[in-house]
Amino acid sequence: MTDMSQSTMLGGAARKIGPVVLDLNNISLAFGGVKALTDISFDVRQHEIRAIIGPNGAGKSSMLNVINGVYRPQKGEIVLRGEHRTNMDCYSAAKAGIARTFQNIALFKGMSVLDNIMTGRNLKMKSNFLLQALYWGPARREEIEHREKVEEIIDFLEIQAIRKTPVGRLPYGLQKRVELGRALAAEPDILLLDEPMAGMNVEEKQDMCRFILDVNDQFGTTIVLIEHDMGVVMDISDRVVVLDYGKKIADGTPDEVRANQEVIRAYLGAEH
Ligand SMILES: Nc1ncnc2c1ncn2[C@@H]1O[C@H](COP(=O)(O)OP(=O)(O)OP(=O)(O)O)[C@@H](O)[C@H]1O
Ligand SMILES: [Mg+2]
Repeated sequence: MTDMSQSTMLGGAARKIGPVVLDLNNISLAFGGVKALTDISFDVRQHEIRAIIGPNGAGKSSMLNVINGVYRPQKGEIVLRGEHRTNMDCYSAAKAGIARTFQNIALFKGMSVLDNIMTGRNLKMKSNFLLQALYWGPARREEIEHREKVEEIIDFLEIQAIRKTPVGRLPYGLQKRVELGRALAAEPDILLLDEPMAGMNVEEKQDMCRFILDVNDQFGTTIVLIEHDMGVVMDISDRVVVLDYGKKIADGTPDEVRANQEVIRAYLGAEH
């Protein structure tokens, strides 16, 4: 039942959702007495847009931090493309093709857009300083290849006009877009986005939605998305998992989740 491909309709076009690529089993994470996550299980299928929603403090960011190895859960396991991992670290997550953006923008504010996106290529760079000194030619060629990739991303995100601008001088919405660019520079298979539209105006949100859909569609990237804007979540996600006080209270299609009594109760009881 679970591993057969299925088609979904999105924006009028049929998209192929593949087998499970990321399976989280019984994940529990506590900070001292605070239970951030309690026995959470859900899976992510190849090429889907999987949303994680829930009120403030529900454990959404903690969940992403477990997936890419920032936090190590006390219990549970992560199965990535069939490979069992009791714990993940940031380096091996990145090596395994997982990239992310953060709830609070994590960019070098004094550096240009181009250089910030270039930092996303770090893992792909083979040559170090010594090699660059010894074999100037190959290292130079490599650098040109990385630059080309970064320029492609800049074109894709329509930020050519600001490529040399220091990130700190950009409006918030554009900074968020640059951060998406940095994550895309790693050419991830799985992209984790922690509130990519928070604090944006309607137009900026629409742009970000379009880029997320295009990344998913054109690069085939699997996307795990935390978002508070219910309209956005219901519009663009294939499946939604709902957390509340560190527990999973619902998991299903947007329509199923929307009709779920526990979800309605959790949201009515919260501020948003
Ligand atoms: N590093 C940490 N140290 C201590 N407690 C933490 C830490 N990170 C998260 N928590 C706690 O874990 C719980 C879940 O936090 P988390 O940031 O995952 O929630 P969230 O769903 O992302 O909330 P928000 O919508 O506000 O971003 C909260 O009670 C939070 O205070
Ligand atoms: Mg959060």
